[in-house]
Amino acid sequence: MRNLLVTGGAGFIGGNFVHYMRKTRPGLRIIVLDKLAYAGNLENLKGLHEGPGFSFVRGDICDFDTLDNLFGREKIDTVVNFAAESHVDRSILGPRAFMETNVMGTFTLLDAARKHWVDGGTVRPEETRFLHVSTDEVYGSLGDTGYFTEDTPYSPNSPYSASKASSDHIVRAYHHTYGIRAVTTNCSNNYGPYQFPEKLIPLMIINALNGRPLPVYGDGGNVRDWLYVEDHCRAIDAALQKGRPGQTYNIGGGAEKKNMEIVELICSIIDEKAATDGALQGLYPFKGPRKGLIRFVKDRPGHDRRYAIDCGKIEAELGWRPQVTFEEGIRKTVEWYIDNRPWWEKILSGEYMRYYEHQYGGS
Ligand code: NAD
Ligand code: TYD
Repeated sequence: MRNLLVTGGAGFIGGNFVHYMRKTRPGLRIIVLDKLAYAGNLENLKGLHEGPGFSFVRGDICDFDTLDNLFGREKIDTVVNFAAESHVDRSILGPRAFMETNVMGTFTLLDAARKHWVDGGTVRPEETRFLHVSTDEVYGSLGDTGYFTEDTPYSPNSPYSASKASSDHIVRAYHHTYGIRAVTTNCSNNYGPYQFPEKLIPLMIINALNGRPLPVYGDGGNVRDWLYVEDHCRAIDAALQKGRPGQTYNIGGGAEKKNMEIVELICSIIDEKAATDGALQGLYPFKGPRKGLIRFVKDRPGHDRRYAIDCGKIEAELGWRPQVTFEEGIRKTVEWYIDNRPWWEKILSGEYMRYYEHQYGGS
């Protein structure tokens, strides 16, 4: 691995991954390609400077010519594909962008890799690797028991998960048909620094700080398996190094939580901090208890009830397991949002609030 193309590297997980790789593999050259769609943000790459080890290119994974140039010019031998439309609620409001980027974009990226790695021979095929970052949502919804394994049949329920499922199938086909050395990872819900505030955890932290309503869908009993983003980055690195081409690996935090538990925990962490920190209380004058801000709102259509991951394969084959407990990770995350108010205030002043008003109205 010499020249790593990270698509979607200005987003939440991609940004964390680029920071992680710069820290742990300083000899590697990283090229980030990102369209800077609404969730893409150059601030997520703050501290990384253009130079021999890092460069940023604004561009679209649906644009073959851009990819073709990049593969040739930069002698790309490794791809990690994070570029995606990633929010289920937005996929319900407007599915087209999901099909374009997640399906056609992934196809176009694979096709550029095929041209350069299989047909063109720009780099030696045995030194190439295509890692496709996917989600556990492709498996659909679980009942009260059971776990997703790599053999669970695909059963996507939202336009988002259907588009990701399609992309996983295209990756699989490019491996089987053209020999692209592809690995797919299917990960559970991530949380941590730089997550766009439309997602559950940052939305609740920011609203709880500001004394705004906390909109919980349905009965708040939906379960997700939460993973701290840095643990996901370590898992992707392990899959890049040691994952077997053609294989898929499930990644999860072993931390199943009901949404209500998470929202209540965020409220109590912030109340507790505000009670002992005069400066914080001054910045966020809302007098708790913040649990009083919880509002049950209309459920998401087709809302999957429970996701839970069996990580046995990645543990056994690649020696990966999560290192950050949910209790540690959520505290670190609340602290990051407290310490990085300018990052999210800038987002709150843009397109996001139009989406927010549309989604939540006056709630
Ligand atoms: P994100 O929405 O924060 O970031 C996506 C990035 O992709 C943004 O920087 C955006 O500008 C970029 N992008 C969008 N369309 C593009 C295009 N056509 N060309 C180039 N760049 C484009 O998403 P995220 O949460 O960081 O998710 C990253 C990947 O991980 C996605 O593929 C997602 O499906 C997957 N995933 C996410 C989670 C999670 O909990 N967030 C869990 C499992 C898997
Ligand atoms: P989300 O962060 O959108 O991730 P995903 O839908 O990909 O799992 O949502 C996580 C859970 O939180 C999901 O069950 C929906 C729920 N949720 C709310 O209850 N209220 C909200 O405002 C949001 C954004 C999500």
